[in-house]
Amino acid sequence: MLSKTSRIPGFYKLPIEERLKIVAEYAGLTQDEIELLKKTGNLDLSIADRMIENVIGTMAYPFAIAVNFLINNRDYLIPMVIEEPSVVAAASNAAKWARAKGGIFTSSTGPIMIGQIQLTRVKDPWGAKMKILEHKNDLIRIANEQDPTLVNLGGGAKDIEVRVIDTAKGPMVITHLIVDVRDAMGANAVNTMAEAVAPYIEDLTNGKVFLRIITNLADKRLVRARTVIDKNEIGGEEVVDGIVEAWAFAAADPYRAATHNKGIMNGIIAVALATAQDHRALEAGAHAYAARFGHYTSLSTWEKNENGDLVGTLEMPMAVGLVGGAVKTHPIARIAIKILGIKTANELGEIMAAVGLIQNLAALKALVTEGIQKGHMKLHARNIAIMAGATPDILDKVVEIMINEGKIRFDRAKEIVEQLKKH
Ligand code: MEV
Repeated sequence: MLSKTSRIPGFYKLPIEERLKIVAEYAGLTQDEIELLKKTGNLDLSIADRMIENVIGTMAYPFAIAVNFLINNRDYLIPMVIEEPSVVAAASNAAKWARAKGGIFTSSTGPIMIGQIQLTRVKDPWGAKMKILEHKNDLIRIANEQDPTLVNLGGGAKDIEVRVIDTAKGPMVITHLIVDVRDAMGANAVNTMAEAVAPYIEDLTNGKVFLRIITNLADKRLVRARTVIDKNEIGGEEVVDGIVEAWAFAAADPYRAATHNKGIMNGIIAVALATAQDHRALEAGAHAYAARFGHYTSLSTWEKNENGDLVGTLEMPMAVGLVGGAVKTHPIARIAIKILGIKTANELGEIMAAVGLIQNLAALKALVTEGIQKGHMKLHARNIAIMAGATPDILDKVVEIMINEGKIRFDRAKEIVEQLKKH
């Protein structure tokens, strides 16, 4: 019986075939699923044509696995789809550091999304607000009539909130429909409900409703992650202090915060792509949440605890779904969910928060120590060496020589390969 640990030393050194075998055993993938992963054209044109309009082909991206993740005392292999080198390696590395103190711990608010109904042209906006609130139960009933399945699952519209806002076109009365979307991302359910209640709001207030749409600032659907990193795992207290100062920089300066948060999103969006989520919604939610105090800031925090260890936290909106949308239609997304071994959208969101936090740690550690170019260069050198014909037995050596010489070039790689092969 294979022990279910995600701690797989040297995973990156194995041939693709071996890696796939390990993941297949771990996740219990079928032969068909294994074959599909190996096939670069793994999205049938007929499926693609049903997903969006005007399809003329498909485009493949690398699908990788980040190892070493321990989240809430359970091991996870993390599927990631991304075009940027170093991200998967960095996540796997930093996830390993986190294991010494128990990994990453997560929580969430639950799958609550908000639909906005924009009421304009009312003479008495405060009166209109109260009228809408007086009819809260009717609004919730109308909303829930749209989606009996969701209601049966325990979800549905639960509450309303009403805000009067000042705009360039005068005051507007904005109704927020608060909807428990269970395992859906929620846009379809919420938008349908928002459209259904709009005429009732117009009748109540004699105003004019224009927009009826979900907000991506999903601040009632938050996921949270926390980790403690043993100082000795990352090079001692000086590195801990450096990371805390790097965080303080991001917390204070929007120019830095944008890049800091981009590093977090490197991990989150890679999982979002692997699981076919609406990653634009996630980006929008993340950055809007990062600006919720009126200035744009870091989504994560990094502190030093009484032992001198590093404590990291992340809190952000995470509108992800397991039902509806491409996660159900894209065969590789279904495999990604199987590899994660999860049953609910909440779980997926929490895992993504854990990955985001760890990705952030990996970037900060590199930035406060050797800089990020060294890792990139190593990967670059590996690719050049392989292109120049380096076989696995000499690959590490070729990379080492090129890095030591500071010359990462195809012609030099070829020379080294030839020399090493001669001996
Ligand atoms: C690069 O994709 C991400 C980083 O810039 C993140 C950061 O600066 O924290 C390395």
